[in-house]
Amino acid sequence: MIPPKPKSRKGKGSVWRFIRDFRGDILSAQSDRLYRAWMAEFRGPFVHSFTCNDPKLIDMILRRRPMDFPKSPRMAAGLQPLLGNSSFISNGATWKHQRRIIDLAFEGGRTREAFPAMWDAANSAVARLEPLADGTEIDIEPQAAHVAADVIFRSLFSIPIEDQTAAQVFSSFREHQDAQPMVNLGGLLALPQWARMHNRRAKASARRIRDLIRDLIARRSDEIRDGTAPADLATRIMTTPDPVTKKCFTDREMIDEVATFFLAGHETSASALAWSLYLLAEYPEWQEKIAVEANQHLAPDFACMKDLLVARAVFREALRLYPPVAMTVRECRHAETLRDRKAPAGAQLVLSPWHLHRHERLWERPDDFDPGRWDTPNGRKCQREAYMPFSMGSRACPGAGFAMIEGPLILAAIVARYRIDPPSTPPIPIMRLTLRGKNGIHLRLQKR
Ligand code: HEM
Repeated sequence: MIPPKPKSRKGKGSVWRFIRDFRGDILSAQSDRLYRAWMAEFRGPFVHSFTCNDPKLIDMILRRRPMDFPKSPRMAAGLQPLLGNSSFISNGATWKHQRRIIDLAFEGGRTREAFPAMWDAANSAVARLEPLADGTEIDIEPQAAHVAADVIFRSLFSIPIEDQTAAQVFSSFREHQDAQPMVNLGGLLALPQWARMHNRRAKASARRIRDLIRDLIARRSDEIRDGTAPADLATRIMTTPDPVTKKCFTDREMIDEVATFFLAGHETSASALAWSLYLLAEYPEWQEKIAVEANQHLAPDFACMKDLLVARAVFREALRLYPPVAMTVRECRHAETLRDRKAPAGAQLVLSPWHLHRHERLWERPDDFDPGRWDTPNGRKCQREAYMPFSMGSRACPGAGFAMIEGPLILAAIVARYRIDPPSTPPIPIMRLTLRGKNGIHLRLQKR
């Protein structure tokens, strides 16, 4: 069985057909040539773009010359009401300042400090699933979002998702997404800017979330002042000065970053978890391997993570087949020559983990689910050169290490308790804020 993949357009097709399809679903609007091409140029009425699949080109854009290819202002348009000018969308000196503080908060052994929060969240998720584990089909996406949001709140503010404010942020966030279903983390346009600018519902829900976060931060400021603040991610970010300017985040900057951590940190992990669980339902042999491994090693001790190797390989393979940020966009600051083609200043560069991870000229059996591939020469080479679920270079995800502990841990905890069986209808991948199932991601659970 080949895991689900949306049908793509055959060949080039017309610009108008592309635009029509693009509004429905960005993934299936793409040409099937992108699974073989190193680069594809697209000239539409409003955009001149290049989809870049050549690992050398991606290396130049993300690792060697990132400052010449900033994030596009188009990306900011949909995300700004919620994220302000956070590190996710800023550029230049502002971004450098933000990233210096964030990197310190995530450096070295910091993930180890978040492990107890992840452990508690994983156990709560296992308990929440119990009434659902009667063999009937359930949509696992809301459950995955719940546990991922729980991890973020516990690690950031030492509060579980049941906390009143945390629960309000979580539910307001659902409303926010419903109000603008086509906005995605990669910043690919799906609605014209005017439609997003005048989306009152989205603006109101963004304001509500930011007000709630403002309250959490104000409370934490008081605790820091009184010396009673817990040693969690929020305290660390609020008290770490930028090593260059010696300035800490202002309250406003803190709201932007907390909103970003919540959005970028839970939506992505939720998508990855839901797809991983679905894949395990379809591949019971890998599920059994995780169950055996979990029975032997799973423990409330960070050291157990080094032994959850199958869970990690499965999670990594799920991120390959279903990268939560399936595509992202950069902009040419200057005119460039890309593989002998002229790209004007302002041209959009689409980087597509979705296509790169399934590229037929790079990966062996690109559409197969095979967590064993990471131990093969091709898997290792591709992991270095053609694998970017967390992006690459200086703008790569600062939460990657965190996510690679959280994901395998929660997978192992769920599989240790439940057997997962496939649904009657496989999910259809579709790009929303992150990569989701068009009608959810269904599966069946039963207690082991
Ligand atoms: C499976 C989980 C995750 C995935 C797949 C993921 C993926 C990504 C990707 C692809 C980017 C770069 C986007 C772009 O260049 O357009 C990114 C950026 C970012 N992520 Fe993650 N992420 C995950 C989890 C997290 C977590 C847990 C956090 C924080 C707690 C986080 C915080 C951020 C932030 C702050 C950025 C912006 C970095 C910058 O632009 O300098 N992410 N993430």
